[in-house]
Amino acid sequence: MNDASAPLQPPSGAAADWTIPQRWSDYSPAEHAMWDRLLARQTEILGDRAVPAFMNGLEVLRIAKPGIPDFAELSEHLGARTGWTVKAVPGLVPDEVFFRHLANRTFVAGRFIRTPDQIDYLPEPDVFHDVFGHVPLLADPVFADYMQAYGEGGLRSLEFGALERLARLYWYTVEFGLIRDGANLKLYGAGIVSSRGESIFALDDFSPNRIAFDLRRVMRSRYRIDDYQQTYFVIDSFDDLLRQTLETDFAPLYRELDATPDIEPATVLNTDRVIHRGDQDHPSAFAGV
Ligand code: PHE
Ligand code: FE
Repeated sequence: MNDASAPLQPPSGAAADWTIPQRWSDYSPAEHAMWDRLLARQTEILGDRAVPAFMNGLEVLRIAKPGIPDFAELSEHLGARTGWTVKAVPGLVPDEVFFRHLANRTFVAGRFIRTPDQIDYLPEPDVFHDVFGHVPLLADPVFADYMQAYGEGGLRSLEFGALERLARLYWYTVEFGLIRDGANLKLYGAGIVSSRGESIFALDDFSPNRIAFDLRRVMRSRYRIDDYQQTYFVIDSFDDLLRQTLETDFAPLYRELDATPDIEPATVLNTDRVIHRGDQDHPSAFAGV
């Protein structure tokens, strides 16, 4: 994703918008094999865990086939569905650059792939997290609109110095969101579906809280980046998420929340609509992206 501490000038070799050529033919057989290994292990467990729109995106965008996807080919399939494009970047990019790309329906993805010793954890998003995790839902027309609106909202948040609030919304939806599917909960957050451990933990473990999504509540909630989440927020549908965020003018909300205390990651409030109250028994370890 984005990072405020990233340098402000693109590194040499990158364009002014921070994109770089993917150079797909330069990937080694070992790099493609790493993709295949990650793909096999996630598709094996996600079938009945991920939201149907995610599984459908994998299929229609031809992501679930051997080898690291070629972004040009991927963008052709995606463009035909929702008008989105995928471009490579060297690593984390400044927030404003990231938001501007989203607002223009461009998803920027890491080019590199993790090495075998990083299979479960790596500090920066790689091509597996970015493409397998994020891109399938960009084939869903409603989610595709949400991501564009988020980019526009992100640019606007910078004018209010409210980036942190909006980053929390991204974290608890795009990265770590759960969604209702009839009587069940399903996964849709990219940080979950690209991690084997968290794909199981987020749905099945007794430890984390699962709380119905509430915009204000989410924007007040701190999050942890070094372990599985202690709380997941559950949306009713992508339509509902898009409608709530579009219909709300965030400017007064930012001001109101400035005078409201933050909420710690494991806290349950008595105003929460609790779906599962976690016992927070999960021993602190690590989580992959
Ligand atoms: N409605 C938000 C605003 O007024 C913009 C936004 C839309 C933010 C969708 C996130 C997601 O700033
Ligand atoms: Fe991500």
